Amino acid sequence: MTTFTLMKEGNMMEKRFYVTTPIYYVNDKPHIGHAYTTVACDVLARYWRMKGYDVKFLTGTDEHGQKIQTSAAANGETPQQLVDRVHKTFSDLCDILNASNDDFIRTTEERHIRVVQDIFSRLMKQGDIYKGTYTGYYCVPCETYVPENAMGENHTCPDCGRPLTLMEEESYFFRASKYVPELIEHYEEHMRGVMPKSRYNEIMSFLKSGVHDQSVSRTSLKWGIPVPGDEKHVIYVWFDALVNYISALGGLETDEFKKWWPNVHHVVGKDIIRFHCVTWPLVLIALGVDLPEEIFAHGWWTVDGEKMSKTKGNVVDPVKIINEYGLDAFRYFLLREVSFGNDGDFSERALVNRMNSDLANDLGNLLHRTLQMIETYRHGIVPICECGSELSDVLPTLMAMYDESMSDYRFDEVLRIVWDYVGRCNKYIDETMPWVLVKDINQQANLDYVLSSLYESIRYTALLIAPFMPDTARKIWYQLGAPGDPVTTKFDDFKWGTCEGNRPNKAEILFPRIDVKAWKKAKEAQKLAAEKKAKNEPDHEPEITIEAFGAVEMRVAEITSCEEIPRSKKLYKLEVNLGYEKRTVCSGIKAFFTPDELIGKRVILVTNLKPAKLCGVDSNGMILAASVKKDGISEQLTLIKPEGDIPLGSRVS
Ligand code: MSP
Repeated sequence: MTTFTLMKEGNMMEKRFYVTTPIYYVNDKPHIGHAYTTVACDVLARYWRMKGYDVKFLTGTDEHGQKIQTSAAANGETPQQLVDRVHKTFSDLCDILNASNDDFIRTTEERHIRVVQDIFSRLMKQGDIYKGTYTGYYCVPCETYVPENAMGENHTCPDCGRPLTLMEEESYFFRASKYVPELIEHYEEHMRGVMPKSRYNEIMSFLKSGVHDQSVSRTSLKWGIPVPGDEKHVIYVWFDALVNYISALGGLETDEFKKWWPNVHHVVGKDIIRFHCVTWPLVLIALGVDLPEEIFAHGWWTVDGEKMSKTKGNVVDPVKIINEYGLDAFRYFLLREVSFGNDGDFSERALVNRMNSDLANDLGNLLHRTLQMIETYRHGIVPICECGSELSDVLPTLMAMYDESMSDYRFDEVLRIVWDYVGRCNKYIDETMPWVLVKDINQQANLDYVLSSLYESIRYTALLIAPFMPDTARKIWYQLGAPGDPVTTKFDDFKWGTCEGNRPNKAEILFPRIDVKAWKKAKEAQKLAAEKKAKNEPDHEPEITIEAFGAVEMRVAEITSCEEIPRSKKLYKLEVNLGYEKRTVCSGIKAFFTPDELIGKRVILVTNLKPAKLCGVDSNGMILAASVKKDGISEQLTLIKPEGDIPLGSRVS
């Protein structure tokens, strides 16, 4: 901790924070692991900006190497065509995740290639890259030589289990061994050079066990950056990729480089720490460049207890999860559920639990209750706001704990601290009982004080969650009727007690509660459909008798009105006219029609379906529609409409 304080104090002077994700391979679609690092780095970038730091947040794509060449060949396209097509899914994911990255680098860009060749040439010139012959067992999919002592049984790759190929090739080598003592010494003095502590220990013992010079070129593949002056070699993909952290700054000689280096914070997955904490710093030492301030390795996500893999078909698509549950719930879950640095298990059930308890119950209710009370007890105007309250007294300590945990990348802890505060505010309502105060003429000043304290604590809470859930923070300030933008406000600029006279907007549900029973049923149906699809079975129901079919009563009806249901993203509340009677029906067709497109339409209604309450509305019947579904979710939908003129109420059979 002492080291940290000293380093941070040094940093304070410059107040700069350059944060990077690994650059992602474009041989496949993005998954939850990629989203995880990007979201974590985004939280850091947003937090340090709110602390008044000048921040640069870099991400991008790793577009060279064997994996890309192989995938392209398998798809019948050129590597360039593949990377141009797939890199977009990664840059699109940044937008979908609301990542605030300042740059997105591609290793096929000219600005990158130039810097990689420059750094390679410098090292050649100073004798730290030399030509030799490499013989070793090589794993083609992992693009790495595997040392004999690390091989699996029968010469297999310890990572992917596939057979290794014995290869011999002329290669350029980087004189890594020469700089190892210097790196050990550096890490001995900079414990935060590799984080968390378990990874630090792992890297130190690896370094102490001896590091060989490293092969940094290939003749066996074409898809890479040519070695300057020896074009039959391409630069090894990892050497090429690591340089992105400098090429995005324009190279070693630029003002950008001087500005940001070495206030560098690399966030990577645990599988790639040797490249980041051994190879990369050794290259930097050879170049005479200072080492990154911190490299943090996070853990891996499994899914429902199993390793994610394409063959198992359990790869989690972040976009699908976001579409179903919302972006901020996803961002919150990723960083709250598992301590950053540890492995974690992803399950939709756990996400639903967190949404219901932390987001809908704790946070959502606090906002809703407070706004309702201001509306009912104070005509929708925030009353006189005295400074200080038991809810403000705790904030300096809270903020210190928040800052410390954030500096240590303990995101789950940061969120726990904030939710403890939310819990405290909810308890404050129960203890102060504003509904009792309002009835007592002598307690009116006290009620003002309680309501404005709650208002201010929610305003501050929005600031605290802004790095994690920027959209939600904005929604909260909007509902509070608070001026400004929590996302661009600096923590130090927040002034408690400046809310008197604010007029909150209409209270809206922040996170709707998910009905777990209905959700489970829908998931089971999705699973069944997926299983059938995997077995190539058509999604057909078992045979029924004519009597069973006859038991379904269907009639022609006309839609006469259509309203939104505030708590539901999918449902409309429709009034339908059967001629002989009028009914209310909830229908999950909101995504496909505007109310105007529905009103006046004639449809087929199942009239003898058991009534049900949906999102608080009694639904009495079901409208027939044809749809194309993917994973249980309708992608395309059309209503079944009777042709020609037939009286309302006519029976369909
Ligand atoms: N291209 C290299 C990185 C070069 S950086 C100079 C690479 N790319 S990757 O696309 O394979 O992986 C990118 C990141 O995703 C890595 O940090 C990796 O740890 C992370 N993850 C891949 N699967 C993961 C999980 N299941 N869970 C969490 N993160 C995971 O490696």
